[in-house]
Amino acid sequence: MAKYSRRDFLKTGAGAGAAALFAGGRLPSAAAAASPGGARVVASGNGIRATAKAMDILMAGGDPLDAVIAGVNIVEDDPNDMSVGYGGLPNEDGVVELDASVMYGPTHTAGAVAALRNIKNPSKVARLVMERTDHVLLVGKGALKFARAHGFREEDLLTEKSRAAWLRWKETMSVRDNWFPPKSESVPEELRSVMNTQGTINCIAVDGAGRLAGVTTTSGLSWKLSGRVGDSPIIGAGLYVDNDIGAAGSTGRGEANLQTCASFRIVAAMGRGMSPEQACLEACEAIIAKTKLVPRLCDADGRPKFGLNFYALNKKGEFGAACLYQGGKYAVHDGAENKLRDAAYLFKRRQDRG
Ligand code: GLY
Repeated sequence: MAKYSRRDFLKTGAGAGAAALFAGGRLPSAAAAASPGGARVVASGNGIRATAKAMDILMAGGDPLDAVIAGVNIVEDDPNDMSVGYGGLPNEDGVVELDASVMYGPTHTAGAVAALRNIKNPSKVARLVMERTDHVLLVGKGALKFARAHGFREEDLLTEKSRAAWLRWKETMSVRDNWFPPKSESVPEELRSVMNTQGTINCIAVDGAGRLAGVTTTSGLSWKLSGRVGDSPIIGAGLYVDNDIGAAGSTGRGEANLQTCASFRIVAAMGRGMSPEQACLEACEAIIAKTKLVPRLCDADGRPKFGLNFYALNKKGEFGAACLYQGGKYAVHDGAENKLRDAAYLFKRRQDRG
């Protein structure tokens, strides 16, 4: 059978239509229903600079995918956020491996990369997978080869701080290996809060014309096995966007989310009329129910030993977030102000219970 060339495809009705639709990655504006609430940007708690940047772009008439990616790039570039991009905590071999996904509502297209090394903005590479290939997900060496083909520069993503945190973990793992423990038993102050992380950034947006987009990007679980992929690059788990309904994303322990596809579930629940916050809470409840089947993941009270957080935004501009445990924050720019808000939750922290 003759191979169908890209040119042939673009000449066909469907191909020409798709090409027109995708020129510049935009739908004709008439195809977009207005968001009555106006532009909104929602992000995880580490995303307050991302929501500010993304809203600036939306206010200037920019596209929501450009907006959310530019927003999270600030955090990917920041060595002090050790859960994302440059300075993210490495895998068990001391190598930083990044995951990211993007999804664009108007075309219902997505792109993602997983276990990508040496490139500090995996969200930009994920976008190129969406826009410049017929695939959705590229991993490992293939993802790196693709990034290099597009001119991305390789760099060492390990900072002195993330290397020191990894070495400390390595040296204290076991008394039965050949690594001696660090001279001082007490963890240095600057490493205390970063010795273990499942952090990530998710950012989702709707513009005044009702166009939705989202991105999730992460260095994943610290000290993970080489090649481990979390929920962030998996469409339907770490991110999902349906331009007729809304968008959702997650941060926290990806394994739990991978087994419940919560972002898809949240968007589907909003499609049935549930508020964003209720839909996020329902996803948390589903995770709890399934986690109870695995005793090693539960504390003595049957509650999960891990954290997981969801963020949601509907086409009307309504937003919400929920976490398994009290204390989670999320960032929202509602067009007027940009601030951190308290997320809903299922469980109080142990010390808060009477
Ligand atoms: N949610 C990020 C991860 O588990 O990799």
